Amino acid sequence: MHTRITRHLIADADGLAEAAALLRAGGLVAFPTETVYGLGADATDGRAVAGIYEAKGRPSFNPLIAHVASPEAAFALGPFDAHATALAKAFWPGPLTLVVPVGDDSPVSDLARAGLSSVGLRVPSHPVAQALLALVDRPVAGPSANRSGHVSPTDAAHVLADLDGRIDAVLDAGPTAVGVESTIVGCLGGAPVLLRPGGVTRAEMEAVLGVALGEPVSEATIAPGMLASHYAPNAAVRLDATEVRPGEALLAFGPALPCDGPVLNLSVSGDLSEAAANLFGHLRRLDAEGATAIAVMPIPAEGLGEAIRDRLKRAAAPRV
Ligand code: TXA
Ligand code: MG
Repeated sequence: MHTRITRHLIADADGLAEAAALLRAGGLVAFPTETVYGLGADATDGRAVAGIYEAKGRPSFNPLIAHVASPEAAFALGPFDAHATALAKAFWPGPLTLVVPVGDDSPVSDLARAGLSSVGLRVPSHPVAQALLALVDRPVAGPSANRSGHVSPTDAAHVLADLDGRIDAVLDAGPTAVGVESTIVGCLGGAPVLLRPGGVTRAEMEAVLGVALGEPVSEATIAPGMLASHYAPNAAVRLDATEVRPGEALLAFGPALPCDGPVLNLSVSGDLSEAAANLFGHLRRLDAEGATAIAVMPIPAEGLGEAIRDRLKRAAAPRV
């Protein structure tokens, strides 16, 4: 592992210029998006992309998504069928990643795509991400800026906790608003397939498409990153808890159950957007407080709840 001095850049004009220069020179820079912080590298530079896999400890069979500043820039990177075009027009910029066939002579490196014949494309809406991508003026590969298998970062301190000394800089714009990663939809012919629930809900997408989203045949092969055990804090996680057992910390939703240990509430009022924004930070805090077991109160599966439940299910899965 080659060590780097990690600079903490504030996202003003100077910080943005510095971050863009580092990326254009092949560096690794974590940057804010509306979902979570991403670990950026020039997606056209295989050597820079290799640095992402090394810094995260990510298996190189797990492809990266490419971030660009505008839908037009994304349309140039692969053929968009009618479904992909409709979703892009409705939700970009925003928390949606579209997997499309990779275009001929794509500038996105093979390594970033893990050799697949498809490519994941995302146009984030965060103003700092937008400004950075415009300055870099190349596709930027960006997985979540955490060590592989760990909880995604929703502020710069989370990024540094995982990657200090392994990346060149973090561009700090405070906490992210959505808190769970982008929704990933595969548009590779036939009905679009929901590969990962996320910031755009199933209902919002189906309203635009006028058809139901398909389900992946096998998650492991279609979205290689969706390993069952993922988003894992150190503590064991128990879902849909209706009582707290001795020794457990509580991750509450709505009015909290009685609990003798540490309690953090995702949303006292039962608001799913607030819960999504708090999810990863609360898991990290309970870990930092030394919780060894976390009971999680039931969260409804509708709207953003689908993405929250997906991440909690992975956090609770047996560790690989
Ligand atoms: O919100 C987000 O999407 C964040 C921010 C930084 O943009 N990024 C993110 O990246 O969550 P990552 O690498 O942590 O998750 C992307 C997922 C992985 O599970 C990967 O396997 C999948 O997307 N993926 C990427 N390219 C793919 C492709 N061509 N086909 C299927 N799945 C793909
Ligand atoms: Mg990730």
